[in-house]
Amino acid sequence: MFNQKITDHPDFDQHQRVEFVETSTLRAIIAVHNSNLGPAAGGCRIYPYSSADDALGDVLRLSKGMTYKSALAGLPLGGGKSIIIANPASDKSRELLLEMGEFVDSLKGQYLAAEDSGTTVNDIKVMAEKTRYVSGCSDNETHGGDPSPVTACGVFLGIQEAVRFKLNSDLKDVRVAIQGAGNVGYRLAHLLAAAGAKLIVADTDRRRVSRLIDELGVADTSTMKIASQRVDVFAPCAMGAAINENSLNSLQASIVAGGANNQLASEELGQRMFERGILYAPDYVINAGGIIDIYYQQQGMRDTATVNKHVEKIVPMLRDIFVESGKQRIATNTIANEMAQAIFLGHSTKEAAA
Ligand code: NAI
Repeated sequence: MFNQKITDHPDFDQHQRVEFVETSTLRAIIAVHNSNLGPAAGGCRIYPYSSADDALGDVLRLSKGMTYKSALAGLPLGGGKSIIIANPASDKSRELLLEMGEFVDSLKGQYLAAEDSGTTVNDIKVMAEKTRYVSGCSDNETHGGDPSPVTACGVFLGIQEAVRFKLNSDLKDVRVAIQGAGNVGYRLAHLLAAAGAKLIVADTDRRRVSRLIDELGVADTSTMKIASQRVDVFAPCAMGAAINENSLNSLQASIVAGGANNQLASEELGQRMFERGILYAPDYVINAGGIIDIYYQQQGMRDTATVNKHVEKIVPMLRDIFVESGKQRIATNTIANEMAQAIFLGHSTKEAAA
């Protein structure tokens, strides 16, 4: 399926397990980055990757991010991710999802799947016909299984903290540019607007922008211009690599804080932001609400107060990272990486010694 050995991939980074399957119905990869702290949990993404190698790079980066995310969120979970190479709009079928369920089951619980870009709660329910190693599809009166409301809530709290730290201000009249008005971006816009922030939004799907214009009277701009707006906060809530050479050059915001995974095209861009005085809230710290929610669903403990209390811990965690970054004069993403590694590798050492 791939043009190179999986272990030679530049993003391999000591993955513990990478499995792939290719049948007439399903082309998919499951990556388990690290399971020192618990089963490797992470979403199942369906995306029409242009090649299997592209898909491999994506799943490796995403699963590694999940290890770091769960470690800093204080969850007994490792990091994993799965991808299906397909167009979610045209290729998704019951047969494909059932086969994916069997594939997840073949890892015997080392990987725990949930919804992600291109999959819905209902898709996960179909997979659950073949495996019990899924989460994020609990039926509950107040909760249909979708973790994005909790993700958006955590991102909102994180933006509030970043603004307090950097601008010594609350959110009233703070200008925020939101890139992507999907599940997370849409809800985030509502929370920010309720706190008095001034919003400008862009999405490749025009209907999603129109909905926010109608509901909140937000301003809008093109997807090409959203990162270069004259705002206080740039909130990436679409796909990865929102911060790249181009966008960083034209960035005017003094804070980057949003829900998207893998916001930095390369880790080194974090240091460049630091040197320019831009405060970056590391993506996997601020967007941990989703995995926190998934964890409690998986445990059958869907008590909103417990979940919210856990999500609120994102705030002091970010503050610690911001303070340490200032003290050590090191980028926030590097500080977060070091803190996460100390948790998931430290645990491994203790286990080994036991
Ligand atoms: P979504 O698919 O509902 O929303 C993404 C939105 O971004 C869509 O409306 C899409 O049209 C838009 N978009 C795509 N490319 C764009 C571009 N270049 N410029 C502007 N808009 C663009 O996905 P969701 O669930 O809102 O997730 C958003 C991000 O947050 C993803 O990176 C996801 O991995 C991450 N995330 C989501 C969590 C969740 O609970 N849903 C949890 C943690 C992270």
